[in-house]
Amino acid sequence: MKILNLIKYVLFILAIILAFINWKIAISLFIVSSILHVMPKGPNKLLNVIIGYLIIAGIVFLFSNLLLGIILIVSGFLLAKFKVWANKVNFDYYDRDKEIYQKARNFVIESFTKIGKTHQIKHFEQTVYWLKKLKPDADESLLISAIAHDIERGYRKADMDGKKLELSYTDKEFFRPHEERGADIIADFLEKENVDEKIIERVKMLVSRHEEGGNEDQNLLKDADSISFFENNVQTFLDKHVKAVGKEKVREKFDWMYNRITSDKAKSIAEKWYNNAIKELNK
Ligand SMILES: [Fe+2]
Ligand SMILES: [Fe+2]
Repeated sequence: MKILNLIKYVLFILAIILAFINWKIAISLFIVSSILHVMPKGPNKLLNVIIGYLIIAGIVFLFSNLLLGIILIVSGFLLAKFKVWANKVNFDYYDRDKEIYQKARNFVIESFTKIGKTHQIKHFEQTVYWLKKLKPDADESLLISAIAHDIERGYRKADMDGKKLELSYTDKEFFRPHEERGADIIADFLEKENVDEKIIERVKMLVSRHEEGGNEDQNLLKDADSISFFENNVQTFLDKHVKAVGKEKVREKFDWMYNRITSDKAKSIAEKWYNNAIKELNK
């Protein structure tokens, strides 16, 4: 039994015993015990209980001390008002961002589920994971970009499959349309969701250069993408892509994905997976 629970039950039992001896202490103990009971249920539940007690105490005191009674009742109502306001601020500043990210994530998952490629989702989720490791305070635009960076593959047009065979993965003519079409697809989705224009522009900027990088945040996304690629996609390349395009192009892809990494931290994380990938390819 957790210590908090133990204290809560002891106080409650004491309150029952003392009810017949000293009702004032009994009520105080009961109040503390009930506060301990609701505390683990979160700040909203705790505030509800405190508001309730303030109003009940206010009503009781109205008959013995009018001023104190009024003060307690008014405090209860003010606290209730504060709770509503604080929840709204929380939603506007934190949950709304999370909501946008969750919507983008659902959109990505649905897009890849529709075309039967759910196995690709792990790479996207892990890109978010590594991005947070590289930048723990990453903003929602970065997180949306990480989850949706390869969305083009969910809506791939026939010309891209042709290009993949003709050109190498590392050819600008192949990856530019992948980046820029993906940026347009996620921007269109965010526009339909009425997301702030600044976020849409930033996501578009990030996704549109996630393969080649450029500025600090584009490089960050590219690095997280590379780590997640080596962590999750190597086996698919060894099993399927080698047969489809040949060992040489896959080797080029592995080297390119590793050499493009900008930060030392990201490189040190990806290194063991990259070395292993090359070893497996050469078997
Ligand atoms: Fe990509
Ligand atoms: Fe990727």
